[in-house]
Amino acid sequence: MSESVKIVFVSKGEKKEFMVPVGTTVLEAAHNNDIDLEGACEGSLACSTCHVIVAKEFYDKLSSPSEDEEDMLDLAFGLTPTSRLGCQITMTKELDGLTLIVPQETRNISINN
Ligand code: FES
Repeated sequence: MSESVKIVFVSKGEKKEFMVPVGTTVLEAAHNNDIDLEGACEGSLACSTCHVIVAKEFYDKLSSPSEDEEDMLDLAFGLTPTSRLGCQITMTKELDGLTLIVPQETRNISINN
């Protein structure tokens, strides 16, 4: 059994806690637990609909975003200084308790629009 860590989503003003296996991405964790995080491109860095706002105390524990992630983030609606793309964050033991705010609005800038 792989180890589990806690992840906390704040969605529509409600706080929801889940245990997820280490190695799960934030996007997968959201989808597996019915959190309303879109993730239109399923983690291929081609949208910004998996935008999450990371609680400040955890932001510095994350590895820095890649240039591609930065580029996509620039397009995210309601960007904040601690914004990240959920599909690019992988849960580790150090991230136990990771708290993320799910923005209310996303803007899908996939190629079909
Ligand atoms: S799911 Fe599209 S960039 Fe994360």
